[in-house]
Amino acid sequence: MLETERLLLRQWKDSDKLPFMDMSMDPEVMTYLPTLLTEEESLKLIQIASEIIDRNKWGIWAVELKDTNEFIGFIGLHNQPVLFDFSPCIEIAWRLAKKHWGKGYATEGAKATLEYAFKKLKLSKVVSFTATVNKPSESVMKKIGMTKVKEFVHPEFSGDPNLEKHVLYEILNPYFR
Ligand SMILES: CC(C)(COP(=O)(O)OP(=O)(O)OC[C@H]1O[C@@H](n2cnc3c(N)ncnc32)[C@H](O)[C@@H]1OP(=O)(O)O)[C@@H](O)C(=O)NCCC(=O)NCCS
Repeated sequence: MLETERLLLRQWKDSDKLPFMDMSMDPEVMTYLPTLLTEEESLKLIQIASEIIDRNKWGIWAVELKDTNEFIGFIGLHNQPVLFDFSPCIEIAWRLAKKHWGKGYATEGAKATLEYAFKKLKLSKVVSFTATVNKPSESVMKKIGMTKVKEFVHPEFSGDPNLEKHVLYEILNPYFR
């Protein structure tokens, strides 16, 4: 579990299922993702994320507000072994329910995740990518100190004129210098 001033990043709980299904069916949250998720797809995603955290002790964590214990979305690290020409790589990713945008939670949780990636996991590099039109996500990348590497066509969005063009950002482990 990671703790910040306002957040807990932790293993998923049964009580996260309903709010995660809700946010995965919110067209605004999912604007830059391929499709809305069905209830089954959301539950599958939670199951896979939980299993990876059990196995590795890290992954895509559920995010909870410390003040209220409310589930607000996910932030974490995801292994991308083969999909891209820059694979293998470890990606940092985030997705929050809309009512929790604009409060700095994504940036706060992502900074703690990078600290974990660099200090505990001793990764040499973390990457992040999103559709070029997803300015809120690119903004989080910049705020956590990542720099733009290139634009590329995401193979899973290929043929979607709005979403196929992605930006790739990276940050190197500052403790290795
Ligand atoms: C991407 C996403 C997580 C960004 O969320 P966000 O709330 O905009 O990002 P942050 O948590 O960094 O919040 C930033 C804003 O909170 C505001 N804010 C309010 N209180 C704050 C605080 N205490 N600290 C920092 N920022 C604060 C700031 O004004 C800041 O906006 P600015 O950077 O333009 O000045 C969100 O848009 C999202 O979930 N989108 C849908 C899913 C998605 O697209 N994920 C990425 C797919 S690749």
